[in-house]
Amino acid sequence: MNLILLGAPGAGKGTQAEIICDRLRIPAVSTGNILREAMKNGTEMGARAKSFIDSGALVPDDVIIGIIKERLAQDDCKNGFILDGVPRTVAQAEALEEMGVQIDRVVDLEVLDDVIIQRLSGRRVCSACGTSYHTTAKPSASPDVCDRCGGALIARKDDEPSTIRERLKVYHEQTEPLVEFYRARGKLVVVKGQETVADTTRQLFEKLGVEP
Ligand code: AP5
Ligand code: MG
Repeated sequence: MNLILLGAPGAGKGTQAEIICDRLRIPAVSTGNILREAMKNGTEMGARAKSFIDSGALVPDDVIIGIIKERLAQDDCKNGFILDGVPRTVAQAEALEEMGVQIDRVVDLEVLDDVIIQRLSGRRVCSACGTSYHTTAKPSASPDVCDRCGGALIARKDDEPSTIRERLKVYHEQTEPLVEFYRARGKLVVVKGQETVADTTRQLFEKLGVEP
């Protein structure tokens, strides 16, 4: 299955992608994670992306399209993949079509802006392995320590309140038009992501016709 997860920042794309990956045994491709890794490793692409990410703006389409072309050509994507947070502009979606990438379903995770602000304010990520937690909704066993690798948990730099507001604005202006783009192509599945992680997963599997 080739899937796209659409949704505002903090809607739960990364959280649900991890669950679907384990269930369907397909890789998740998150442009956000790829860009953060590039920033951590000090690559040229990371340096170019940093100011956009830190201010809550989108990274230019040519950088993203380059990342996706390279990543989807790898062997582990041959039997399916989940695109988490990409495409995020109509130009990126058109580029996928021009590349001949077949998409089976596009899941729009719907969450109200107020809930998103609470979620992102409480998010903590592992500075070593990137695993994501939430102070109340998905806490680690001991505070500020990653359950998976023992790394230190930190808040993402772009999760500061003013940057969250900017990311939401950018989402509504530049990414939300993709909902209609994929509805018109008969690919759209809408999932209400407002309740618990488990509730969102249940709806997702039901709508995709996947046994839990
Ligand atoms: P990216 O990393 O993709 O960030 P984002 O889209 O802003 O989304 P997030 O990762 O913040 O949220 P999420 O939906 O994954 O939610 P999560 O599961 O973590 O992109 C970062 C930046 O990179 C962008 O701003 C841009 O600059 C650049 N970029 C990336 N891709 C790009 C592209 N294609 N084009 C241009 N630029 C690009 O959940 C959030 C929190 O809530 C967690 O703490 C989680 O535990 C908790 N949570 C999740 N679900 C629930 C629930 N149901 N109930 C309670 N808590 C929940
Ligand atoms: Mg994410």
